[in-house]
Amino acid sequence: MDRTKAQKELESLRAEIDRHNRLYYVEAKPVISDYDFDKLLERLIEIEKEYPDLVTPDSPSQRVGGEITKVFPVVVHREPMLSLSNTYSLEEVADFCRRVEKLVEAEGGSNPEFVAELKFDGVAISLLYRDGVLVRGSTRGDGTRGDDITANLKTIPAIPLRLQSAGGPLFGTMQGEIEVRGEVFMRKADFEKLNETRPEEDRFANPRNATAGTLKLQDSSEVARRRMSFVAYFLREGESGPSAHLQRLSQLDSMGFVTGGHFKLCRNVEEIAGFIAEWSEKRWKLPFETDGVVLKLNDTTLWERLGATAKSPRWAIAYKYPAQQAKTVLRGVVFQVGRLGTITPVAELEPVRLAGSTVSRSTLHNFDEIERLGVRVGDRVMIEKSGEVIPKVVAVVTDERPEVTTAIEVPELCPECGTPLVRPESEVSFYCPNEEACPAQKRGRVLHFASRNAMDIQNLGEALVAQLVDRGLVSDAGDLYSLTPDQLADLDRMAAKSAQNVLNALEKSKTQSYARLLFALGIRHVGQATARELAHAYPSIERLRQAGEEELAAVPDIGPVIARSILEFFSKTWVDEMLSKLEEAGLPMEAAAPKALVNRNFEGLSVIFTGGLERHDRQTASQLVLERGGRIVTSVSKKTSLVVAGAEAGSKLEKARKLGVRVIGEDEFEQML
Ligand code: IVH
Repeated sequence: MDRTKAQKELESLRAEIDRHNRLYYVEAKPVISDYDFDKLLERLIEIEKEYPDLVTPDSPSQRVGGEITKVFPVVVHREPMLSLSNTYSLEEVADFCRRVEKLVEAEGGSNPEFVAELKFDGVAISLLYRDGVLVRGSTRGDGTRGDDITANLKTIPAIPLRLQSAGGPLFGTMQGEIEVRGEVFMRKADFEKLNETRPEEDRFANPRNATAGTLKLQDSSEVARRRMSFVAYFLREGESGPSAHLQRLSQLDSMGFVTGGHFKLCRNVEEIAGFIAEWSEKRWKLPFETDGVVLKLNDTTLWERLGATAKSPRWAIAYKYPAQQAKTVLRGVVFQVGRLGTITPVAELEPVRLAGSTVSRSTLHNFDEIERLGVRVGDRVMIEKSGEVIPKVVAVVTDERPEVTTAIEVPELCPECGTPLVRPESEVSFYCPNEEACPAQKRGRVLHFASRNAMDIQNLGEALVAQLVDRGLVSDAGDLYSLTPDQLADLDRMAAKSAQNVLNALEKSKTQSYARLLFALGIRHVGQATARELAHAYPSIERLRQAGEEELAAVPDIGPVIARSILEFFSKTWVDEMLSKLEEAGLPMEAAAPKALVNRNFEGLSVIFTGGLERHDRQTASQLVLERGGRIVTSVSKKTSLVVAGAEAGSKLEKARKLGVRVIGEDEFEQML
């Protein structure tokens, strides 16, 4: 493709991707599938790879991440990031309004107006724009100091990398510094998708925890994958800006931010109460979680004069909706045995409506929780849905306790295999230690192996896996691949055709990636993201098995706990046997061979990067060299062919000059590409 054509296609792709991002993140009305969206992005990246000088800082490709941050630098907030005082009562809201009114009157004003907004349940952040370009993003931290998480925040589509024109002269210029504050959050659907990629033992309890955990990741490409959202609710700029908060919200909107759209100017307490009532039910239909309403004085010139208490401003307050509760009866408790042997008590409830759905089961987490609640079978219990997606039992209605209730006994034996349970010190859960032979654990492992985000083996559901394990046909995932058509057709609710479907699905699973296989193995604490990191660092299972604890812990986002769990996994005999069977069957025990070269412009060259490049991060730049036949080296010697030096290059540049190695800058590097 020639340059002019490339430029044209890039422009239209960027506009289209931005439009779809807006439809998805702002209007919550996506019009294309995730798959088609990814295709557009892939095409954009492909052209940009060919013409790296056509990459713009606000191109959607700049959001895919890749930068690894080992330690987040500390940011001192120019103005402390305060939190809000909370209330659950409308009376206190009325008190707040009267208080503000008095203060406003003391300042010579009257009849203050308020803006009512939804309270987003996520993580507060601050964004700094210089001359319209995003230069820094940070967490709230302790209010005074936060973490610089710019690389992670840049991956969030709803955060503009460059501000759009601020919409006419009213709003002044985009010069100088502007600070925007808002909430990063995860939509319910994105949260559920994310949890599916995580091992059961590490699932996030609610979207807020998932958001907080994600923002702390070192690998920004993983942040990009998790589809975070952002809503802006606060703008600070020079003197020129509008003084009404409502106008600032619409200014944020024209700058390219998402403001949520659900806010209202209220002139009195009645209007505020109306807004609160309106959203108390409607909020369940929103694609994200809200836990209340925030009320802010509209006239921002008064904000400073009203000031703040130690923790929160006097010009705003948060009304929180009481958690949704329902009363029901605990009919019984069943003990589930997980893939890793964990015993989870599950409450069986008299079905009851709660926050838009019917609830008949809820987890009791562990036996400490049962003891804390003092709950017995037959009790009337309160269940609650707050931030959590899954409802939980929060209390026993003791004054309604029936005459006959029965205690919930801690089982001594595994309900599945009869092995005495153990409770490791320092843990709250009981385990079945019969890892190798317990049928529940076998079933759990095989089901995990076959699940959608793992090997994605269709038609291999719970009922089928249970039969396979119970009849002794399958003990681990490796056995799946030696099943015969007759063995399958012989099972309940199976026939020749359905058996063949399963065999076809198994055959197809052999072409899944090596990273998926690593996830599918079901190593404790190794979710999809960790599996991807591992696959990247260790291109074969053999290499991974040889890795030591310290070496493993040096991989991004892998700490000592995961490292130990990996070592433990590979030390087991049944794992050895399973891996042999999988290898025999032809599953991908190593990473696929690298893709064909883009060109041979770097063939035979050993290349070093030093200093910061402006348009490429280190990882991408290295990738570009590898795709063109070059090698990346890390220390300069006489044999080094080329040093690409960016800003603030240090000792490597000096050494290269001394040794007479060729040094080039970013422009020349791009030409060579
Ligand atoms: S305004 C100085 N507006 O709630 C006041 N906060 O408990 C700055 N939050 O830390 C915050 N939605 O994380 C504001 N529409 C909204 C909000 C909101 C959620 C969060 C924010 C803040 C916390 C206060």
